[in-house]
Amino acid sequence: MSGEHNPEAVVVDNSALVPGSLTNQVAVVTGGSRGIGFAASLGLAKLGAHVLIIGQNAENVTNATQQLQSQGLLSDGFVGDVSKPEQMDQVSAQILNRFTPTILVNSAGVMSEKTAKTLKTSVEEWDRVLSINLNGVFNAIRVFAPIMVEKRNGRIINLSACLGRMSGPGTNGGLAPYRISKAGVNALTKNFAAETGNGKRGVLVDAICPAHCQTDMGGPDAPRSAEQGAETILWLASRNLNEQTQTGLLWEDRAIVPW
Ligand SMILES: NC(=O)c1ccc[n+]([C@@H]2O[C@H](COP(=O)([O-])OP(=O)(O)OC[C@H]3O[C@@H](n4cnc5c(N)ncnc54)[C@H](OP(=O)(O)O)[C@@H]3O)[C@@H](O)[C@H]2O)c1
Repeated sequence: MSGEHNPEAVVVDNSALVPGSLTNQVAVVTGGSRGIGFAASLGLAKLGAHVLIIGQNAENVTNATQQLQSQGLLSDGFVGDVSKPEQMDQVSAQILNRFTPTILVNSAGVMSEKTAKTLKTSVEEWDRVLSINLNGVFNAIRVFAPIMVEKRNGRIINLSACLGRMSGPGTNGGLAPYRISKAGVNALTKNFAAETGNGKRGVLVDAICPAHCQTDMGGPDAPRSAEQGAETILWLASRNLNEQTQTGLLWEDRAIVPW
């Protein structure tokens, strides 16, 4: 994943994140049990949000939730596979019975097999990656966005990747299911932002490229920490909405990057 970073992009807002600014907000984080999703969960909880972590592995979900709770932060865990619509129906029913989410971070994701050029990709590998990375984002939006649209209050942040861009270091070959799943996430983001009025009706929908981060997916030699990758998620989740707010975009380090 080298070469993902985009240093020319212009930061649109340098303001510090304010502890307590997300008090009374409820954030759902898919893939919150590990990596960038966990860093985002911790960061959102430190800003005051009640963070609901979703992951497929029950032990990882429990560990992550307990780490937040042990620091006096508000968190609950839910086990579900984002690629399975019926499991997301069950998880969302549990959540919506108790909470009104105002933030959704879609971080659950998997990498392609390293050999997965298009003609080397099996049908099973294609389906595995697309069903988690792209269908999983739709499945979570399908169950959690309606309440945000109804209440006219939502921040939806989709973890994309610069490997999914149609420009720059984007879709240049290799890792086909991964790159194409993220290109799909970009399209879903722009399309859903348009459908929700591009911010005019209280809901902001954006994608981020966290760049190459040290996680189970990114590996130990990545140049950035998971916390650095998550910082723009926290900023997007905390943004106030006004005439100048830009949404329906791909962000990296608080800067807009071309799709
Ligand atoms: N790390 C990077 O360098 C990098 C760069 C660009 C973009 N990204 C994107 O950032 C996001 C997070 O990546 P990461 O590096 O933090 O990955 P990671 O460390 O491998 O963590 C992946 C997370 O996704 C969850 N997950 C995977 N499949 C799932 C499923 N079917 N249902 C529910 N949860 C599932 C995992 O939960 P379990 O513990 O239950 O498996 C885990 O919490 C991904 O979308 C990735 O594509 C990462």
